[in-house]
Amino acid sequence: MRAVVYDEYGPPEVLRVEEVPAPSPGRNQVLVEVIATSINLSDWEGLHGTPFYARFGGLRRPSRRVLGSDIAGRVAAVGPEVTRFRPGDAVYGDNLALMGGFAQYAVAAESVLAHKPAALTFAEASTLPQAAPIALQGTASAGPGRRVLINGAGGGSGSFAIQLAKLAGAHVTGVDNAGKLDYMRSLGADDVLDYRSEDYTRTGPYDLVLDLVAHRSVFAYRRALAPGGRFLCVGGPVRTLLEILTVGTVAGLLSGRRIQVMAVRLGPKHFEPLARQCLAGEIDIHIDRTFPLDEVPEALAFHGEGHALGKVVVDVAGRAHEA
Ligand SMILES: NC(=O)c1ccc[n+]([C@@H]2O[C@H](COP(=O)([O-])OP(=O)(O)OC[C@H]3O[C@@H](n4cnc5c(N)ncnc54)[C@H](OP(=O)(O)O)[C@@H]3O)[C@@H](O)[C@H]2O)c1
Repeated sequence: MRAVVYDEYGPPEVLRVEEVPAPSPGRNQVLVEVIATSINLSDWEGLHGTPFYARFGGLRRPSRRVLGSDIAGRVAAVGPEVTRFRPGDAVYGDNLALMGGFAQYAVAAESVLAHKPAALTFAEASTLPQAAPIALQGTASAGPGRRVLINGAGGGSGSFAIQLAKLAGAHVTGVDNAGKLDYMRSLGADDVLDYRSEDYTRTGPYDLVLDLVAHRSVFAYRRALAPGGRFLCVGGPVRTLLEILTVGTVAGLLSGRRIQVMAVRLGPKHFEPLARQCLAGEIDIHIDRTFPLDEVPEALAFHGEGHALGKVVVDVAGRAHEA
């Protein structure tokens, strides 16, 4: 099968297209013919091996040669203990543990997959499994009149988070680079900030801050919050995550605020609710660009260099836009 592989951490140039043997499913695994894969920041992190947690699979060299976490496709074969899927079924899921979506076939645990709704294209379905749980859990406490700020709001999870917070009746501020300000407004953000010229921890206070790319000090986050407010960090350098887990917990408690790292619960029961909201017309899926499999390096560069509005999709089989 064709796959986009890498053997060292680095920029998109370390990736190359190769013919490799197709994987075979283990007892509880499903072999998926990948039709579409969407790119997440976790792919960019896995490519570069930074932040440090992105190296858990391989300290010096990547242990998995094929990236690509969000997959949508058709079941090609199933292991002997798989009960929920049969060959031919259309499925989607976040294969974060095994990856492998930048290839014609990937194996995934049965537990990470769900049946794809017939009304979603494979491309649309591939945008949901990782971004939806982050957006849903990150905005769960948004409500009428609450001041919600989302940092990194123009990306994959952020685009859903803006819409969910607006749907909940919150006043939403979206933060991202200058090229994404109009886009965030189009999703419903009431206010927008360019992270390169404004420090959102000085523009509040906010009742809820969802930070997808946290890198400031705990004291800056405390300053951003109103009394009783909550800061949720989803990603960022390990140093920042550790500081939030330790100093942040204490500083939050002492000041009547909560400063926390959000441990995202992944899996079908955490992404299917957003798929239902998309099908009901409450939430829109924004795919900025679609690239063919051989152009995964270009797709990752486009995403990683700050151009993507919402999601970037890899059309692995040339039929990602079919339902
Ligand atoms: N905790 C967990 O279990 C878990 C699981 C999966 C993923 N994650 C994390 O979830 C996060 C969300 O990822 P995603 O896929 O939604 O990312 P994404 O699509 O890449 O979006 C991130 C957005 O943040 C912007 N950004 C970059 N640096 C920024 C800064 N300093 N200030 C404000 N915005 C900035 C990016 O813009 P530019 O284009 O300018 O860079 C981009 O628009 C990632 O941090 C990932 O590591 C966590």
